[in-house]
Amino acid sequence: MSATAGAFNRKPGSALSKAVRYGGALLGVCVGLLSYRYIVQVGPVPANVLANRFFDHWIVVHAGAASTALILGAMQLSSVVRQRWRGLHRASGRVYVASCIAGGASAMVLAAGVSTGPVAAWGFGALGTLWLYATMQGLRSARARDFSRHRAWMIRSYALTFAAVTLRIYLPLSQIIGIDFAFAYRCIAWLAWVPNMVIAEIYLRQRGPGLRAGSQPLPAPSCSSHTDRML
Ligand code: HEM
Repeated sequence: MSATAGAFNRKPGSALSKAVRYGGALLGVCVGLLSYRYIVQVGPVPANVLANRFFDHWIVVHAGAASTALILGAMQLSSVVRQRWRGLHRASGRVYVASCIAGGASAMVLAAGVSTGPVAAWGFGALGTLWLYATMQGLRSARARDFSRHRAWMIRSYALTFAAVTLRIYLPLSQIIGIDFAFAYRCIAWLAWVPNMVIAEIYLRQRGPGLRAGSQPLPAPSCSSHTDRML
């Protein structure tokens, strides 16, 4: 087995690491399910979001698609699903990518219409751009059968998708500690995702060269079952 494949298949050992991964996945699924409320039009809508210039129609597209990405992404990163149910991983991966594209495109429209000013607009705009870019790189590398690169880009993509969760943790916390809402919102439009990206990069560096963006592609597989196992 190559060093790259070894790094890829290494078991994440500690109980803490498992708790973080499963806890994160659970939070992702919960936030995703709650956000479907925009499709059925039940439940609260924050006043600043209601004041978004492009709220009508776009929020339904965005909440529906981005929530689907958040829920499916949690499952896509599971090594159990990747290894035992490859067909499910591929099918749900296609839906994840389509959801990110629809969620990201509609996010860019909503970013242009935010009621909290240009700092928040640029924060969401940058997030949406990087989200689309990382996801498209993930798709490209899967099509090229470069699975180490594919996994690295999809980890980045999900770290950005996960901004939906971190934003919904930081925003209530900022209000509990009494920070002015508009100021907090502008900061959190950046803080919701920049630390996620830093953590993803640290994780990828620790996991070995095979999972970094600049790494060489895997050599052509000698048999298809090898790469299938890695997917
Ligand atoms: C990762 C890239 C994302 C970007 C750039 C983005 C951007 C935005 C923007 C600009 C708004 C309007 C905010 C405003 O008017 O102040 C919004 C609202 C919303 N987004 Fe996203 N979003 C992203 C991901 C997600 C994900 C993954 C979900 C899944 C749950 C999600 C769910 C929502 C919901 C439910 C709203 C309505 C506001 C609320 O109820 O909190 N977004 N998003």
